[in-house]
Amino acid sequence: MKRILFVDDDSKILDGLRRSLRALRFEWEMEFAVGAPAAIAILLRKQFDIIVTDMRMPDMSGADLLAEVAHRYPQMIRIILSGTWNEDLRMQAVMTAHQYLSKPCDPETLRSTIGRAFALREVRLQPAIKEQLMRIGSLPSAPLVYQEFALALRSPDISARAIGAIVAKDPAMTAKVLQLVNSAFFGVCRRTANPVEAVVYLGVDVMRALAQSASIFSTFDGAQSTRSLIAALQEHSMSVAMKAGAVARAMNASKLILDDAIVAGLLHDLGKLVLAVHFPSEYDRVLATASATDPEQLDAERSVFETTHAEVGGYLLWLWGVPDSIVEALTFHHGPAQSGAQDFSPLAAVRAAEVSD
Ligand SMILES: [Fe+2]
Ligand SMILES: [Fe+2]
Repeated sequence: MKRILFVDDDSKILDGLRRSLRALRFEWEMEFAVGAPAAIAILLRKQFDIIVTDMRMPDMSGADLLAEVAHRYPQMIRIILSGTWNEDLRMQAVMTAHQYLSKPCDPETLRSTIGRAFALREVRLQPAIKEQLMRIGSLPSAPLVYQEFALALRSPDISARAIGAIVAKDPAMTAKVLQLVNSAFFGVCRRTANPVEAVVYLGVDVMRALAQSASIFSTFDGAQSTRSLIAALQEHSMSVAMKAGAVARAMNASKLILDDAIVAGLLHDLGKLVLAVHFPSEYDRVLATASATDPEQLDAERSVFETTHAEVGGYLLWLWGVPDSIVEALTFHHGPAQSGAQDFSPLAAVRAAEVSD
């Protein structure tokens, strides 16, 4: 049985959830807490896999509750289900929740979101890596792109499209805006993997507010070697993105697949960024032991992490609710046969692009 804790200050909302999810009572063990203090009390006596909480509650906000949960129970998946999203609430929530849903949320959406989150738990990664991935709120951007981004935001008459074009050059910023826009966080009802569209949707003011809010967008200021690695990764990612786009165009792919192919190319090595930034000493070992016969360092990664950057990047984006086609392209870009995909897909475009890079 999977365990889920629902939290809301309105017991009627909880009753509604209980009724609409009744059919799942044999699969999920559900508990319902009226308010954050009650939730904390329940958490002290029982373990849960997922917490789904309201945002605006009188004693303690959903964001504060999730911050607490992230700290004490990092392995729990954190979902916000909120009726109102004003600017303040968004900024508070943006670093604490993995996924965001808007009320009223139909039971099917809730079921599929939670079902996906459970499927994710089955992915085999070392517990220490999983735990770290659960904690990540954002990743550092390449220094030059970040500078360009910060400068652009200072210009009073910059367009959202122009900002989107900058974001679309950087894997870390792209991953974050896709997370935001693919959740119901900003009220979007369709999935998108296009970072420019995502920024246009969020708008310049929200991008400014996000940039001002602590470390949602940032650049790395630690070791020089890691900084160079992030810069090199960004260049490689851009190059693969452009080539993946060219491949998709040559294949006469639909606009949707074309967009996905480009962004999958940009994000394909996101797992390397995660490993380099969050496991610096282990990643140094990967770099030191990788041999010339293992140019992608997959064997070295496996021996140090028991997994590769492909699964790590895929897991993070899955956790962030980014569309499946992108997650699939990341997860399988070094082992496409495992994906079971038959038709031309973003994954195939990334593979072809990478080979020619
Ligand atoms: Fe790769
Ligand atoms: Fe690559």
